[in-house]
Amino acid sequence: MTDIYRRPDEYDLEHVGDEEDVVFYVGLARSLHPKAVLELACGTGRITVPLAEEGARSGFNVVGLDSEANMLEQARDKAGQLPAAARKRLRLVHGDMRKWHGRGPFDLIIVPCASITHLLALQDQLDVWRRAFQNLAPGGRFVVETVMPNFSAYADSFANPPRTLVEIDRDVTDEPRKIRLVRRRTVTYLPNEQRAQIRFLYEKYRRKSLIECFIDDFESHVYFPRELRLLFLHTGFEIEDFFGDYSRRPLRPSSQMMIMIGRKPG
Ligand SMILES: C[S@@+](CC[C@H](N)C(=O)[O-])C[C@H]1O[C@@H](n2cnc3c(N)ncnc32)[C@H](O)[C@@H]1O
Repeated sequence: MTDIYRRPDEYDLEHVGDEEDVVFYVGLARSLHPKAVLELACGTGRITVPLAEEGARSGFNVVGLDSEANMLEQARDKAGQLPAAARKRLRLVHGDMRKWHGRGPFDLIIVPCASITHLLALQDQLDVWRRAFQNLAPGGRFVVETVMPNFSAYADSFANPPRTLVEIDRDVTDEPRKIRLVRRRTVTYLPNEQRAQIRFLYEKYRRKSLIECFIDDFESHVYFPRELRLLFLHTGFEIEDFFGDYSRRPLRPSSQMMIMIGRKPG
């Protein structure tokens, strides 16, 4: 697991300005008229909390599930600042998405932000898809978002001798606090495992002075489009939609991400 999940403040800082996914998931929930929505791997509630606000307006309840206590604590702090109507709609649960079984069925289950790439073993992936199927009402949707395999980033892994390119992939500033976070990234692709070894090198600045730097090493599973499709079909879902971005455009050669929506028949 990545160390950034033990630093929820930095996690949120890293996502300053990320609005597109929030708008996408809130809009999706609104359009499907669910009674109950579950976000797997909800983290600091970046998407869960706006979902609960929408729940108060549209009349659905939201459960956010995460296995990292620090992330959930941050989500709880944010939930505490919600108006009562939204707070009543939200439940935050500590648990593992491979095993968790809800009390009542959900109409919509989402796994945003490529959280699904943390599952490295095929059995763990199948467990999550099967659990989602069990936790859904007939006709309910399971939405999985992940990144497209980035062959240009992986190409260096095949050079002889292998090279490691360092790129700045994130440079964000929290204006009110005047804190800037710069993230450098290296990727090594392991073709035999279909896995990316990722190293994030973080630097945190206040008014141009370095205040902290830290490193985060982790591995993530690289999903291919047809593999994603097979995971849905193998676990009983019908494929309803397959988007290549948050604007709901279909997957194209240049797409950088995949959002697949599976539907439980019924
Ligand atoms: C990239 S963050 C996404 C957080 C949030 N969904 C968002 O969009 O900001 C990934 C989250 O997955 C959680 N996670 C990883 N493996 C998990 C598991 N097996 N069960 C539940 N949560 C898990 C981590 O603790 C982390 O909070």
